[in-house]
Amino acid sequence: MFPAINPTTTQAWEKLSQHFSQLQSAHLIDLFAQDPERFQKFSLTFEDILLDYSKNRITEETRSLLVELAQECGLQDAIAAMFSGEKINFTEDRSVLHVALRNQSNTPVLVDGQDVMPEVNRVLAQVEKFSNAIISGDWKGYTGKPISTIVNIGIGGSDLGPVMVTEALGAYKKPNITTYFVSNVDGTHIAETLKKIDAETTLFMIASKTFTTQETMTNAHSARSWFLEQVKDEEHIKKHFVALSTNAKAVAEFGIDTQNMFEFWDWVGGRYSLWSAIGLSIACTVGYENFKELLAGAHAMDNHFKTAPFEQNAPVLLALLGIWYNNFFEAESHALLPYDQYMHRFAAYFQQGDMESNGKYVDRNGQPVNYQTGPIIWGEPGTNGQHAFYQLIHQGTKLIPCDFLAPAISHNPLGDHHPKLMANFFAQTEALMNGKNEEQVIEEMHQLGCSEEDINTLKVYKIFEGNRPTNSILFKQLDPKTLGALIALYEHKIFVQGVIWNVYSFDQWGVELGKQLAKKILPELTSAEDVTSHDSSTNGLINQFKAFRK
Ligand code: F6P
Repeated sequence: MFPAINPTTTQAWEKLSQHFSQLQSAHLIDLFAQDPERFQKFSLTFEDILLDYSKNRITEETRSLLVELAQECGLQDAIAAMFSGEKINFTEDRSVLHVALRNQSNTPVLVDGQDVMPEVNRVLAQVEKFSNAIISGDWKGYTGKPISTIVNIGIGGSDLGPVMVTEALGAYKKPNITTYFVSNVDGTHIAETLKKIDAETTLFMIASKTFTTQETMTNAHSARSWFLEQVKDEEHIKKHFVALSTNAKAVAEFGIDTQNMFEFWDWVGGRYSLWSAIGLSIACTVGYENFKELLAGAHAMDNHFKTAPFEQNAPVLLALLGIWYNNFFEAESHALLPYDQYMHRFAAYFQQGDMESNGKYVDRNGQPVNYQTGPIIWGEPGTNGQHAFYQLIHQGTKLIPCDFLAPAISHNPLGDHHPKLMANFFAQTEALMNGKNEEQVIEEMHQLGCSEEDINTLKVYKIFEGNRPTNSILFKQLDPKTLGALIALYEHKIFVQGVIWNVYSFDQWGVELGKQLAKKILPELTSAEDVTSHDSSTNGLINQFKAFRK
């Protein structure tokens, strides 16, 4: 096991603190002016992906010190521990092996002395066979018609990954399959979906690692009742319901034939499960060949992460930059800004990936931390975000490091849309870095014919200080392989940060309390008498809710 070190007690942290006090006021404009090689020094390529991190408030010394921090915190050992199947998810006593799911080199990966690869390959073969049967029309519904609609019912990791990937790979969708995702326990979500579909040609995928999650089981039971109301024969369930789960017993109890269960294992974290059987909806939507490419892209990134020196290791560098801003500049959030409409759920996906992993205040020694851990992750696709929240990124009081992601080649090369999109992509990081100084503002206002009085009054509002840090991730095209690599890039970034922040990144105890209380409150909502068992606010809200419904 790798060491559990408070990062603030390392020598590297001390050196970084001193270095920060010297560098904090340096402007990116000057850093670029001082070094014509800056782009070459602070960028790298991995396959068809270019990571330019030169527009960050760093020097070569910063990078060396951050790498020293990673080394002092035992990152190399932590990477080895994860890939070799050690039980690094300590609080749940589990290995963390989403990397085994995409281990296309097929080298043995041991959990409790047992190679998991034969099981991984068995389920992949099952996914291949099934998705081919759905897409080809060989799998027939109860009236003999082929399946044309998939409804994936799941939540969190059993929803967000497949949603994000099927959207991101929109250009690869099979024309004969339409896929819907139902996650919210709000009945509107399933009800609106059921209005659009036909029982004869619909396949429901009940996606739940535990097969006990309230939202998913409620939606699954509603889907089952809707189906049986029309079909009137439980025999037909096996043609229209499959389960993606680790819990065979609960799947059988629900009434799904375990022949139609696609298994995964407790060493696959929910938010890392799109590579497992949870990816069945992806394979059925874009084809198994594209799902395989997605895995191949992630596997290539895994190898890069495992072997590249930290100074040239894309996930490590992204993680270290995040720590630099989070812990030294005191940035509270991080924006993910894809300039690709297909990636419109990318930030939402990594909200769970990052915030559920590193949103922790107790360290791996069981002590409360005395430093900041995971940031708030947010973002929307460009250029929509530009017309919504970028004002705050440019001129607000908060420092918001941003990742800009974009493809060089569009799947939809319509007129000059893509050059226009990309002009915005390049312009934004330049503007965030350079800002606009007083001289430029005065010059611009003169050109517009403004009076001296107006210039004097208004110039202050038009000046931007710039110096806002960004990463640019430019890739050739959003194909399955590149998408797989990009997802793995961020997964490993999150892992590295968790190691250095000394938290357990693979549990999520914080989401349990709300679930427990909701179970306790549910019967109170229908009881005849007023509720008095909570604080006055919760009692007041529940009682008013009941009064409104009388
Ligand atoms: O609420 C958190 C969580 O446990 C996630 O980590 C997980 O992805 C989600 O719920 C769904 O869980 P399951 O796949 O077991 O239904």
